[in-house]
Amino acid sequence: MADDSKKAGNPKRPNGLRSDEWFARQDSYGFIYRSWMKNQGHAARMFDGKPVVGICNTWSEFTPCNGHLRGLAEHVKRGVLEAGGFPLEFPVTSLSEPLMRPTTMLFRNLASMDVEASIRSQPMDGVVLLAGCDKTTPACLMGAASVDLPTLLVSGGPMLSGRYEGRMLGSGTDVIRFKDAVAAGTMSIPEFMAAEAAMSRSAGSCMTMGTASTMASLCEGLGIALPQNGAIPAVDSRRQALAFEAGRRAVQMVREDLRMSQVLTRNAFANAVRLNAALGGSTNAVVHLLALAGRLGVDFTLDDWDKYGRDVPCLVNLMPSGQYLMEDFYYAGGVPAVLQQIASFLDLEQPTVAGLTMGQAIADAKVFDRKVIFEVTEPFKPIGGIAVLRGNLSPNGAVIKPSAATPALMRHRGQAVTFSSADDLKKRIHDPDLEVDEHSILVLKNCGPRGYPGMAEIGNLPIPAKLLQQGVTDMVRISDARMSGTAFGTVVLHVAPEAAAGGPLALVEDGDWIELDVAERRLHLDVSDEELARRRTALVPLQSPYTRGWEKLYADHVLQADQGVDMDFLVGGSGDYVPRESH
Ligand code: FES
Repeated sequence: MADDSKKAGNPKRPNGLRSDEWFARQDSYGFIYRSWMKNQGHAARMFDGKPVVGICNTWSEFTPCNGHLRGLAEHVKRGVLEAGGFPLEFPVTSLSEPLMRPTTMLFRNLASMDVEASIRSQPMDGVVLLAGCDKTTPACLMGAASVDLPTLLVSGGPMLSGRYEGRMLGSGTDVIRFKDAVAAGTMSIPEFMAAEAAMSRSAGSCMTMGTASTMASLCEGLGIALPQNGAIPAVDSRRQALAFEAGRRAVQMVREDLRMSQVLTRNAFANAVRLNAALGGSTNAVVHLLALAGRLGVDFTLDDWDKYGRDVPCLVNLMPSGQYLMEDFYYAGGVPAVLQQIASFLDLEQPTVAGLTMGQAIADAKVFDRKVIFEVTEPFKPIGGIAVLRGNLSPNGAVIKPSAATPALMRHRGQAVTFSSADDLKKRIHDPDLEVDEHSILVLKNCGPRGYPGMAEIGNLPIPAKLLQQGVTDMVRISDARMSGTAFGTVVLHVAPEAAAGGPLALVEDGDWIELDVAERRLHLDVSDEELARRRTALVPLQSPYTRGWEKLYADHVLQADQGVDMDFLVGGSGDYVPRESH
């Protein structure tokens, strides 16, 4: 049905608002729409042509990183009211990184469908997205982008720095270190357990530059969040003030008709990739931004990650690549200060939801601590970006984060030690009889989008215990899985096509020689084409254990990592116009 909703003088929208189609009517539908809403105590004047701002909340007590978002929503509401709007909060699916099985990534697209349907089907003119934990941010952005209302995102903010026995503890990053220390026999189980409360000591998301902090920061680079969204700690009162300002801006954005698609252009994505390089951000941002671009029809590809991030050094000394944490990062100047350091790489004319260009938004930013935020001329690490590797082992690409890798291993030739699945890995990796040494390359198969399913964060395979005990701290690891943004190591991820989709990764056997050359962007399996063809004929396709429900739909329709792991039927958008009434 034709969308005549935006025609000038549309009698269904006397105030020029989408919500008019519900609340400005004089008929029985209007009666129903207003009457039931009034049972919540809303006065008649609230339906008088005020822009309705939906507050899309991923709060859940099962998602501890978002556990404080109900409170934050109240500050958004104050801002909406102050600007003359009508705030209405609604819940959507929340995704708990620490708790959900088998992996939250299996449900990112499902949550995005919930966000899209909730926004599209209900009477709102603008949206404030409240997100925090890793997948809640991309899920909200993707779903909202497919509707394309005036929208901005407010992150929950990171936890305060962890503190244990006089040293700082970083979310996730130190869990990995402690796990290795326990396996190597240098940390006792009571010590290990005592560190739990010390690590997560306030509301908020992981306070390393993991996926949550990366995505919250990249929202600033994309221009879809207000300045300082990335780093203000969750419990700092300035986070609440930011939520208030977001509510105000949402109302103004409705009046300006500033939609997501006007902010999230190709150059906005390029800015975000450059920022990610300067931050040493998470590899997970690769799939999330590709999926988001797909929803908006923006021409942005995996190779753009390499192209735009290649010349930008890592400026930020934060775990997992460095030493400090998000709290320190905020005090050092936060994301605007980093954007200003790399201003010469950015499109400063990009619009942002602040109502300013990117250049205006960062004009007054300052660096207050050079131990945390370095200069481009004297960077923290010379290479910041995500490198995209190609070769006969990853014809459609694979990624590595050089800033988290060991420089000596960035060019390496080694023999494969293969694991056919996550279960096989768990069973054998610490087996004293496993034939492996520090030069081996660990290869994990069938952990990609379809194979796991859900592309688990297990690409940073553990170092075999017997090598840890010899003092080995890093090895080349290759898989079709993802890696937690809080993890580190010389880890090649997102190999596409994945093993379960018949990618060459499925053909690797123990003892095969593999060559990794990050400078040359090369990932090569040194096996003849004839031998690979022979192995392919003998390959038994992986059978998905899922025969029903969301998991089956996911396995049948999920796209590969180089396409953002979205569902094939979710690419693009449906817009905000819904021609039928409520029945
Ligand atoms: Fe939620 Fe890290 S587990 S942000």
